[in-house]
Amino acid sequence: MTKANYPSDKFKDIETPFYYYDLDLLRATISEIKTQSSKANFDVHYAMKANVNSSVLACIQQASLGADCVSGGEVKAALDAGIPASKIVFAGVGKADWEINLGLENDIFCFNVESIPELIVINELAAAKGKTAQIALRINPNVSAHTHHYITTGLSENKFGINMSELEKVTDLVVTLPQIKLIGIHFHIGSQITDMSSFQALCVRVNEIQEFFDSKNITLSVINVGGGLGINYEHPNHFPIPDFDGFFKVYREHLELRPHQTLHFELGRAVVAQCGSLISKVLYVKEGTTKKFVILDAGFTELIRPALYQAYHRIENLNSELPDEVYDVVGPICESSDTFVKDYSMNQTKRGDIIALRSAGAYGEIMASQYNLRPLPKAFTSDQLV
Ligand code: LLP
Repeated sequence: MTKANYPSDKFKDIETPFYYYDLDLLRATISEIKTQSSKANFDVHYAMKANVNSSVLACIQQASLGADCVSGGEVKAALDAGIPASKIVFAGVGKADWEINLGLENDIFCFNVESIPELIVINELAAAKGKTAQIALRINPNVSAHTHHYITTGLSENKFGINMSELEKVTDLVVTLPQIKLIGIHFHIGSQITDMSSFQALCVRVNEIQEFFDSKNITLSVINVGGGLGINYEHPNHFPIPDFDGFFKVYREHLELRPHQTLHFELGRAVVAQCGSLISKVLYVKEGTTKKFVILDAGFTELIRPALYQAYHRIENLNSELPDEVYDVVGPICESSDTFVKDYSMNQTKRGDIIALRSAGAYGEIMASQYNLRPLPKAFTSDQLV
């Protein structure tokens, strides 16, 4: 069984549970993104919602990626990390006034606008500041992402974006709003998408929508197709870097850009998921009547994805090479949903063993909670533990 090459001797001295980020893998992943996206001059924004660990953000900033934000807090974190406002896009169906004002004050690159009422409020707030807001319309392309229903976002009965049927009305309105400058259109069909045909379907839809804007003589410089590229949760050791070549190629081959248009992406999971693990210690191995339970000191407070989305994270015992046994691996929280995986084969395990829950760099630490009054997890990087 291949396992992560982690400094488990160093892990012994650190209080568990904690997140561990392999920054060499993160840098290699970002470098591959830069190589593949630069083939067609694509502009990649990192989706801050996936992870805002300061060392992770430093790598993002050093590589000159932009930021995709969904809250005032994320806009602030991106600016604090040194990401220039000119590379910040700001999406979200419920932007509060203070969040819009923060974006306006800092002259962020683009607000991705999700509704007519939001357009009107941005226009008013921009007028009060004597500013013009650059915006992209988030259009709901009604493309299925073939992913978990909690993380599919591009279908028409969805709270996100402006429906195609409303496009005419919205574009007629936009041109009457003096403090709004329409620079582009924005899409996002969902997350953890591994079937490239979903992205191809999005390209076809974007091409159709472009014709609509051509017919209205509206020039757009920004086409933003969001994020969504999935990763391999089953085999993080064999596929540590997602297939960015295949992903960007779909867009190079199927999306028809007009001259002077730039294609923008908002990648989160594919950038950071594989570099992160949740490191935990085995508290007890408990014999049930028909099952054995491995009880960890980490629970859904540290990593909620299995409880919330039935998500799978590979689990490795970093201290055991003994033959496999079958366990339910659970956390200490007083809820039955605090189960990472059932009937799972892993090396025979005992109290005190160090366990890695893999592929947890995206939507892991950032979604942690203090339920049961548990402290938020700390995080360490490979650079710190050399
Ligand atoms: N852009 C927009 C507008 C989004 O809503 C999202 C993610 C992204 C970009 C980044 O998507 P990514 O490249 O990471 O797939 N907590 C869930 C995932 C929620 C994704 C929400 N939106 C999970 O743990 O699977």
